[in-house]
Amino acid sequence: MKQSVKLIAGNWKMHGLTASLAEAQALQDAIKAQSVTCRVALCPPATLLDRMRSTLVGGKVELGGQDCHDKPQGAFTGSVSAEMLTDAGATLVILGHSERRAGFGETDADVAAKVEAAIAAGLEPIVCVGETLEQREAGDAVAVVSAQVAGSLPDSLSERDFAVAYEPVWAIGTGLTPTLEQIAEVHAAIRSAIIARLGQGTAKTPILYGGSVKPDNAADILATAEVGGALVGGASLKADDFLKIIRAA
Ligand code: G3P
Repeated sequence: MKQSVKLIAGNWKMHGLTASLAEAQALQDAIKAQSVTCRVALCPPATLLDRMRSTLVGGKVELGGQDCHDKPQGAFTGSVSAEMLTDAGATLVILGHSERRAGFGETDADVAAKVEAAIAAGLEPIVCVGETLEQREAGDAVAVVSAQVAGSLPDSLSERDFAVAYEPVWAIGTGLTPTLEQIAEVHAAIRSAIIARLGQGTAKTPILYGGSVKPDNAADILATAEVGGALVGGASLKADDFLKIIRAA
């Protein structure tokens, strides 16, 4: 398993278009020149994966999807399967992002089914969990996140590479972040929930933090206990900003 180095993944969401291929190339060139030791991944819109694979030949930037269907193929208009992501060059896939859970009604069971599909296609899933502001203010953050972990991780993960990303919903795209103590508390709870679900073999599975990670807060967040990397939204769209976060790892 690839657990010992940090994973810094960029989630481009529905941004990017082809102009951002230049940012991806700039990132790759800089990483090559700087002997970066962490893992770096970019998760662009699915339409860019194949072109990014062609652009980034021989480089160190891994590619990921942002979602997949739980079936390998079929009459599912508008959907992309895990096999299709693999075919287009992805080796990872983000699953259960709060924007999918809230905007598309994805449940923990839906996420677990997608994780199974991703594993079957040879992808490394990054499974997202996180509480809303209302849940945090009610004192339920740890319980909510622990339940999401238990419900979203299928048995098939126990022997596989995967990551969990803690993304508090209220921190995404807002410029707000939890305190380092809050991040440490939730990450410790996630570690316990992963081990309770899948066993001690997952004691080093990376737990990423996501939600307003920026060049100026990345070093502190990445140095926090049990933070195994970052899932970065807005700051991953510009090579310069993303590189600063990569260097902080
Ligand atoms: O998946 C990453 C994301 O939800 C965080 O977005 O823009 O707050 O870094 P952002």
